[in-house]
Amino acid sequence: MSATGRSDVRHPDDFYSTPAWATIALLRVLGLPSRSTVLDPACGEGAILEVVRQLGHVTVGVELDADRAGRARGQGHFVTTGDALAFAEWPGAADAIVMNPPYTLAMEFVVRAIAEARPWGIDVAALLRLPWLASVGRAAFHREHPSDVCVLPRRPEFAASIKCKGRKREKGDARPPCSWSVLLPIDAPRFSACPLCGSKVDTVTTDATDYAWFVWGPGRGGRWSILTTPEAA
Ligand SMILES: C[S@@+](CC[C@H](N)C(=O)[O-])C[C@H]1O[C@@H](n2cnc3c(N)ncnc32)[C@H](O)[C@@H]1O
Repeated sequence: MSATGRSDVRHPDDFYSTPAWATIALLRVLGLPSRSTVLDPACGEGAILEVVRQLGHVTVGVELDADRAGRARGQGHFVTTGDALAFAEWPGAADAIVMNPPYTLAMEFVVRAIAEARPWGIDVAALLRLPWLASVGRAAFHREHPSDVCVLPRRPEFAASIKCKGRKREKGDARPPCSWSVLLPIDAPRFSACPLCGSKVDTVTTDATDYAWFVWGPGRGGRWSILTTPEAA
């Protein structure tokens, strides 16, 4: 998830919580037997793990940010605090790895997860932007590691885009109109007025790009589908 580029305010560590409906839809695809162990190596406050547990599985997580890791532990998940990419091996003897990796480290997390999963013959699912499929720089990777692509039929509202409606120019005012904007996680406290000029703000709560679960694993690769999402989630 990236900021608009205008104000360049990002949430620290690329923290954006995955909506429950997106995880529910993925778990239908994975078809794990009950009481499977699912690892989220960048688990944040445990949004994915919470759904996984509600659907009858055992949860294991890793999270870099100590506060977020603590909140996930507070929900009863088994979470280790630390940099998952620096761990010698990932915890959990998992039956599946499910993650919404930090956007800036997505490739590192995907490569590592595939390496962790291969000896166990388990699935890896990563929530990524659809354009992740289309980059020249990743073509060799996709050829070597073809995934199934399970497209989300609606946009995950990870973010609220907040823009200044613009300070009105007074007569003789030479200052340029305000163009402040920020992209925040959907559940972060919102700005009711522009912090720079005090004008009203516009808040748009849909994301600008489309997302899919990319799934690697035995027998996977080369198929795409549109996920069925739970109506009321
Ligand atoms: C996009 S959020 C997803 C959080 C959670 N899985 C969810 O869906 O709500 C990515 C998370 O990865 C964490 N993170 C970033 N770099 C990490 C690293 N090297 N090791 C472990 N966690 C990391 C961030 O702190 C953030 O909480």
